Amino acid sequence: MAKLIGKNKIYCAVFISGRGSNLKSIFRYSKKKNSKIILKLVVSNKLSAPGAKFAKKNKIITQIVNYENTIKAEKEILSLLKKNDIKLICLAGFLKILSKNFIKNFNGKIINIHPSLLPKYKGLNTHERVIKNKESYSGCTVHFVNKKLDSGKIILQQKVKLYKLDTPKKLEKRILKIENKIYPKAINQILSKI
Ligand code: GAR
Repeated sequence: MAKLIGKNKIYCAVFISGRGSNLKSIFRYSKKKNSKIILKLVVSNKLSAPGAKFAKKNKIITQIVNYENTIKAEKEILSLLKKNDIKLICLAGFLKILSKNFIKNFNGKIINIHPSLLPKYKGLNTHERVIKNKESYSGCTVHFVNKKLDSGKIILQQKVKLYKLDTPKKLEKRILKIENKIYPKAINQILSKI
């Protein structure tokens, strides 16, 4: 993990594709006196992402990246990250899969949040699958990103109980609230170890 810079903070980027509730919670954390990050850059692959609007409004450098050509898109992102001295990337509902080469460039400095108790329910439609399988618990996980999807070292995880009348929507809402709490905690945790 990166060394902390002036004021004991590092520059951080958040990658999003949509709503941005985790982005907001990371932003709120970044504004706390004892936080260990300066949220400097938001990357979105979607122009219409509400999270991108929020970032612009809050004067964070916001880049909409056209992903029609992945190689070009990643090149553009890498140069932005270097230019802005970004030492930590937080994926927060970013729906593009980063290439092995990209991950190699930022090895150990990319983290992600996933709405399940990993290693269970990697990939998409987690809540539907959890309910279909009549699980008693689900939850969310913040983990390091490696070359395999949703498989890197777990940083923090929290369980959420399932109820008989749960629908994917209800469960998603309950888990999202917990996600918004544990993401800043996980960031703080990894940066406290430096
Ligand atoms: C969150 O539930 C996050 O865990 C999920 O997308 C949502 C984004 O919400 N990510 C994944 O499923 C990644 N595999 P947000 O835009 O409100 O932060």
